[in-house]
Amino acid sequence: KMPIKILGTGKYVPSKVLTNLELEKIVDTTDEWITTRTGIKERRISEGELTSDLAYKAALEAIKDAGISAEEIDMIIVATNSPDTLFPGVAPKVQALLGARHAGACDVQSGCTGCVYALSMAFAGVGSGMWKNVLVIGAEVLSKLIDWTDRNTCVLFGDGAGAVVVSGGEGGGCLLASELRADGSKADLIKLPGGLVEKPASHETVDNREHFVQMKGNEVFKFVNRVLPSFLDEVCDKANLTPEDIDWWIFHQANMRIIEGVLRRSKQPHEKAIINLDKYGNTSAASVFIAFHDALKDGRIKKGDTILMTSFGAGMTYGAVIFSL
Ligand code: ACO
Repeated sequence: KMPIKILGTGKYVPSKVLTNLELEKIVDTTDEWITTRTGIKERRISEGELTSDLAYKAALEAIKDAGISAEEIDMIIVATNSPDTLFPGVAPKVQALLGARHAGACDVQSGCTGCVYALSMAFAGVGSGMWKNVLVIGAEVLSKLIDWTDRNTCVLFGDGAGAVVVSGGEGGGCLLASELRADGSKADLIKLPGGLVEKPASHETVDNREHFVQMKGNEVFKFVNRVLPSFLDEVCDKANLTPEDIDWWIFHQANMRIIEGVLRRSKQPHEKAIINLDKYGNTSAASVFIAFHDALKDGRIKKGDTILMTSFGAGMTYGAVIFSL
């Protein structure tokens, strides 16, 4: 058990709402298909705001909530799959916007699991005493990397950012378990293949629409349903907890059927899960932080509660952290 503190949280989502009914006018889909297959009703779409803009706005709220100044932050870690540019990363931009002049800054790119990876790194850094205060952000503007003619992907994703300020020392909660995994042999399931070293940008990559996200959705679905339930059992065991001991399950907000499947298998009530995919869709590396923030602010999550946060995504990667507040 390692003492950690969640000092503050924040979120930012763009104001433009795109509903399923509006999507019916863009691609061959229906509100009924999207709702029953995924649980998503609407999502937010950035109108010109960059990933760094969303990240900065979520960070400002988290820092204010934490009651610290930007100068007190030692490290900024941004989990994203849709950085403004490949380099520089989003984190240094946020560092400059915040004026966090004592902070290091780096991005973590690990599919939607990036947020859980980044939070684990932050916990390790504050728990070891290497860093005092770490700002962890998940931020995405995936709408710019989505093929809006591909109904297999464009109905799923939304833009948004969530942020958490983490610190060490007694007086808060504890990290109870962290487990991060990858299966790189499944790299083909979700990818954005064009525009970099393997397939440098060319007329061909553009004609083949390889500069957009490609996903074998059904194979991702099967992979996650096969791997996630027993993995979460393992993480609970590692924390010396049973599923009953977890007060709140914060899942990656990709698909309601995946979330319900895990809860059913663990015999846990639906009410223990924090859900926001109906409102925001799959915000990739931002999804669990946005859900965490909303549930803290509306009073569902309280001091002393035990939280399991888990995600999966491109790589394939997956991971979970269990901590108390
Ligand atoms: N509207 C209407 N029909 C559609 C749509 C759509 N938007 N998309 C696909 N279909 C059709 C397919 O063409 C297929 O038609 P066919 O039977 O005539 O071939 C049919 O619906 C069923 O397609 P499946 O892919 O088998 O549907 P499934 O039940 O698997 O649901 C979904 C698809 C929602 C994508 C699901 O597989 C899923 O959620 N997978 C997980 C994806 C995921 O979580 N990705 C994020 C990973 S995180 C990251 O790193 C980005």
